[in-house]
Amino acid sequence: MAIDFQFSIVLFSLLFTLVHTTPLPRFPSSRVHPELQLSSASSEKTLYKTKFFTQILDHFNFNPQSYQTFQQRYLINNTYWGGAQKKAPIFVYTGNEGNIEWFTQNTGFMFEKAPHFKAFLVFIEHRFYGKSIPFGGSKKVAYANSSTLGYLSSTQALADYVTLINDLKKNLSASDSPVVVFGGSYGGMLAAWFRLKYPHVAIGALASSAPIRHFMGVTSPYVFANIITQDFRSESENCYKVIKGSWKLIEDTFFKHGGPEQLQKSFRLCNKDFGPGSVEGWLQSAWTYTAMTDYPTPSNFLSPMPAYPVRKMCEVIDSSVKGNNTLDKLHAAASIYYNYTGSVKCFDLNDNSDPHGLQEWQWQACTEMIMPLGANNESMFPESKWDYEDRSSYCQYAYNVTPRPHWITTEFGGGHDIERTLRRSASNIIFFNGLRDPWSGGGVLKSISKSIVAIVAKEGAHHVDLRFSTKKDPKWLKDIRKHEVNIIASWIKQYHEDLKSNN
Ligand SMILES: *[C@@H]1O[C@H](CO)[C@@H](O)[C@H](O)[C@H]1NC(C)=O
Ligand SMILES: *[C@@H]1O[C@H](CO)[C@@H](O)[C@H](O)[C@H]1NC(C)=O
Ligand SMILES: *[C@@H]1O[C@H](CO)[C@@H](O)[C@H](O)[C@H]1NC(C)=O
Ligand SMILES: *[C@@H]1O[C@H](CO)[C@@H](O)[C@H](O)[C@H]1NC(C)=O
Ligand SMILES: *[C@@H]1O[C@H](CO)[C@@H](O)[C@H](O)[C@H]1NC(C)=O
Ligand SMILES: *[C@@H]1O[C@H](CO)[C@@H](O)[C@H](O)[C@H]1NC(C)=O
Repeated sequence: MAIDFQFSIVLFSLLFTLVHTTPLPRFPSSRVHPELQLSSASSEKTLYKTKFFTQILDHFNFNPQSYQTFQQRYLINNTYWGGAQKKAPIFVYTGNEGNIEWFTQNTGFMFEKAPHFKAFLVFIEHRFYGKSIPFGGSKKVAYANSSTLGYLSSTQALADYVTLINDLKKNLSASDSPVVVFGGSYGGMLAAWFRLKYPHVAIGALASSAPIRHFMGVTSPYVFANIITQDFRSESENCYKVIKGSWKLIEDTFFKHGGPEQLQKSFRLCNKDFGPGSVEGWLQSAWTYTAMTDYPTPSNFLSPMPAYPVRKMCEVIDSSVKGNNTLDKLHAAASIYYNYTGSVKCFDLNDNSDPHGLQEWQWQACTEMIMPLGANNESMFPESKWDYEDRSSYCQYAYNVTPRPHWITTEFGGGHDIERTLRRSASNIIFFNGLRDPWSGGGVLKSISKSIVAIVAKEGAHHVDLRFSTKKDPKWLKDIRKHEVNIIASWIKQYHEDLKSNN
């Protein structure tokens, strides 16, 4: 399927192979119309207060440049806190690759459980995202090149978190308040790694949908696409076949006389300047992100969607209510992801808007976060072999850097020996995974010890456990949250018992 790249311009095809070929190295999406994405948040402003902390630029070096500082944003909610005297807990969300407000608004679990635990809530923004931009807050400077972006790494982010937490505890005179860290997706990886690296600061971690094993030589690059395929196939065999056959249909149509016009009309595209590859990438994004957020209730994480959106897409593809034209069906199915509110006039395939500020994940995907992805012929996607050299040459081109594909597993573990090493060296981590989430392929799916517990939901999607509860939540989801609460309560109880017996 190299054909779709030959006809796009060079720059686009390079980007395309990294970002828009199935599947995508980014966790969330920026390819949704901004209007749709912003609609959810405004009502939830009262959840937290916004603060800034003067953070050090480089925790791992003592040269003068390292002592530069930047303003790091964090959000707090102290409404339910039991106070320092009661040694009431502090729950910290270790922010991901985007605006922290967005993640906070999608982490209702912490708000809903705070009264029970009398917990202080803190959500810390990851450096280089949202409003936590080094170099004077200027994205233009901070994102300029590798000499500034070099300070964007997971180890620096974790050091930011520990520095901020310690300072906050000091300010609250809460040195004996236990800290529990939470995170979903990349934030979940950070939560787990935080517990491993700073066990003296966090008593435990809830790492939701954290693919800490999705690195080269550990997890197959093809698992991700195959899980998405399985999600669609589980709804209907026809749905899977239609999607699998659609790539050839789109290419054949494109190269027919009048084909591009037909595609533009069928898919309601705003512009004429597209190749078959961009249509395919657009569809691949819709299937991928819908599989990730295949939640049992209506949601608005990446875009507004109904409950069980994969099922809804397959229903559209399987039905002949709107006629039997496959392109029309694909348009209708993709519209569940891109146009559920019905407010989009036409689809802009060149829309690179980035409402959640996820842009610099690209840098991370070019340095240490080499999470291999590709599609083999078992998947419903066009075959596309994972090739480290492709990634590496893209990164040379885009940033003039060579990735360090094995750094993460060197720094944090996560290779084949993960069970043996964590069993001996670590404790108090919950790894949640929903098996409908394509990222679950790189997650920890088996409990490692009594206190490193894997919770797996066959029906679950990307960090569904962390979302606000709804009246319509299925029993399995309620049970999972209860299970998580019980485990966290046991960590806190143990902590208080240890504190007493030492005194
Ligand atoms: C904390 O969150 C609750 C909702 O769980 C909200 O009602 C309250 O106003 C928030 N408090 C602060 C200080 O933002
Ligand atoms: C990187 O960007 C900074 C800030 O714009 C600039 O001062 C510096 O010269 C650039 N370095 C290189 C190697 O291009
Ligand atoms: C702690 O208090 C100092 C002095 O008021 C302040 O500068 C700093 O930002 C506070 N730290 C945090 C994490 O809020
Ligand atoms: C669509 O195809 C099915 C089976 O091939 C057929 O029964 C049905 O009448 C067709 N519907 C339309 C609207 O053409
Ligand atoms: C979005 O949905 C509305 C309502 O169904 C429809 O009128 C509009 O054409 C759709 N937009 C696109 C681009 O398909
Ligand atoms: C997929 O590829 C393998 C190995 O190249 C081949 O043996 C198999 O027949 C192919 N399967 C399909 C469904 O094309």
